[in-house]
Amino acid sequence: MEFSSKEFKVGKCEGQKMVDGEIMPLVFQPPESNLEGLESLLLALKNNKDWFEAMIVKNSAVLLRGYDIRNAEDFNEIIETFGWDDIRYVGPAPRTHVYKRVWTANEGPLSEFIYYHHEMVLIKEFPKKVILFCEVPPPEGGETPFVPSFRVAERMLEEFPKVVEEMEKKGLKYTFTALSNNDTSSMRGRGWEDAFGTSDRAEAERRAKALGMDMEWLPNGGVKTVLGPRSLMKVFDGRKGRRMWFNTLVGMYGKEFSSAMMADGTTIPENVVKRCEQIIEEESIQFKWEKGDILFFDNLALLHGRRPSLPPRRVLVATCK
Ligand SMILES: [Fe+2]
Repeated sequence: MEFSSKEFKVGKCEGQKMVDGEIMPLVFQPPESNLEGLESLLLALKNNKDWFEAMIVKNSAVLLRGYDIRNAEDFNEIIETFGWDDIRYVGPAPRTHVYKRVWTANEGPLSEFIYYHHEMVLIKEFPKKVILFCEVPPPEGGETPFVPSFRVAERMLEEFPKVVEEMEKKGLKYTFTALSNNDTSSMRGRGWEDAFGTSDRAEAERRAKALGMDMEWLPNGGVKTVLGPRSLMKVFDGRKGRRMWFNTLVGMYGKEFSSAMMADGTTIPENVVKRCEQIIEEESIQFKWEKGDILFFDNLALLHGRRPSLPPRRVLVATCK
């Protein structure tokens, strides 16, 4: 597969890393300055659809930079050019619908760090692609760091072969407590009514079951959701046989509203989780948002998060199959 195309120029960005022979993120720019408009970009994408998708899989992250992309309508047109199916978001982040397939990435407070995750990792059908658009770059902080998941799996296997094999064999179990009303004072504040799209308990239970979750109602009107068994690692087609660290162990372990353990109830040693957190941070890739940036993530290969940010910051998202 060609690394370049006549219609895209390979660029550079701050914080890029070479990981196992691949640049992350791969940066594409207009080949000439008169081709930076939306129409030129749409045409270039249309002519190189399969190639572009292959680049996302090969390099895990592709950044379009230097195009004149202004708003959610522009972003939506770009998404629709590919013809990838939309996938509805299910999860704890409070999100607002903006336009057609475009949503805000997270309405939670900018001062909080959103911990690294694969999008919808606990749901049976998760998106293959997570696509972000920077409408208003943050003045300070607010990066969207990301992590090649296979590197985390490799290093955890190196350092803790026994526990990792045990977790892999048994699988993981998570619990998550949701409040009863929407409360955007916390980024975990998405109420169960919103999360399941209904305020009817029986219907919420039915929908939870369909997503592979069990529910336990709490006296305060909230709900405790139990998920498991879930995998620790996964291998996906077309990704070099890499074992991805496809779980949310660090994000949910020992927290106020969540927990993680092995599927049979065995406790996971705290030092293993703490070390995993360090490894994830060490392997992370940072870049700075610029206005008009569009970033394509291979959600099967990368964890991503959001650093605390000063306002204003507006990053929009679309998720695709
Ligand atoms: Fe996310």
